[in-house]
Amino acid sequence: MATFDGVTVGFVGGGIMAEAVIKGLLRQGLVPPERIIASDPQEARRAHLAQLGIRTTASNAESVSASSVLVLAVKPQVLRGVMTELGGRLPAGCLVLSIVAGAQIRTIYKLLGAEAVVRIMPNTPAQVGEGMSVWTATPAVTPAQREQARAIIAALGAEIYVDGEHYLDMATSLSGSGPAYLFLIIEALIDAGVQIGFARPVAEQLVLQTVRGSVDFAQQSGLHPAALRNMVTSPGGTTAAALHVLEKGGLRALLTDAVLACYERSKYLGSLSEE
Ligand SMILES: NC(=O)c1ccc[n+]([C@@H]2O[C@H](COP(=O)([O-])OP(=O)(O)OC[C@H]3O[C@@H](n4cnc5c(N)ncnc54)[C@H](OP(=O)(O)O)[C@@H]3O)[C@@H](O)[C@H]2O)c1
Repeated sequence: MATFDGVTVGFVGGGIMAEAVIKGLLRQGLVPPERIIASDPQEARRAHLAQLGIRTTASNAESVSASSVLVLAVKPQVLRGVMTELGGRLPAGCLVLSIVAGAQIRTIYKLLGAEAVVRIMPNTPAQVGEGMSVWTATPAVTPAQREQARAIIAALGAEIYVDGEHYLDMATSLSGSGPAYLFLIIEALIDAGVQIGFARPVAEQLVLQTVRGSVDFAQQSGLHPAALRNMVTSPGGTTAAALHVLEKGGLRALLTDAVLACYERSKYLGSLSEE
């Protein structure tokens, strides 16, 4: 069980993801609002976050100096500048959590001087507390800090700890980018429903509930996806006809190719961000 006694959690970047984490921390009562501080250059964002009762500032240095746990939540393209600005200002023993896509632990160490680093690959459903986060930690992260990290990450949804940074590139191609694959499939199915004559809101409801129900069914039954698929596929029936078209079109191989392409790109972009 994580304890946050006397801990101030700071955020550099107060955007969508920072807000999701902050709301999770407050919802679960892990950290009182007065022990959360977020820095963001946008006054509108600061005013928005201040409504949660937390402290806000335009100064990243102020956020960092107050923090014993620091969450890096800026876009990847500004991270290098931010870390260079903050290098050497990190309080001793500060735990750094990075949700920034592609930012390597060794770069965070080099530019920020952080030894206790947790790197996280979240995904966009985190914005509604239904994220899938994969994370890893450096050896300098103490057991107590690891539990703090786990509690913070769990505020975004489900989490899995992995013993190696390379798993984060792999996770990028499955859970990180996965929502985009599924949204494309959802969009295509809704359009198909409209094409055969459903009103768009009806097609949306049919598709979204079918996706949600299928996920719940798969999780709760624990059955292999093929067994679940066979349940709907009667001999010579309608589903069999549709599945034949999908297999003939190469859907299975296409998805594998897409995941592999994402994995390769993730490794390539990660190598660019290395120092
Ligand atoms: N959104 C997701 O679901 C998701 C999923 C996986 C990973 N991530 C990662 O999470 C990180 C944050 O994403 P996000 O969606 O929360 O982005 P976001 O909403 O754009 O938030 C980033 C915030 O940082 C601010 N900012 C810009 N420059 C800054 C600086 N120098 N110092 C401090 N703050 C600065 C931005 O202000 P301006 O708008 O004025 O630039 C913005 O308010 C990204 O690195 C992304 O890779 C996000």
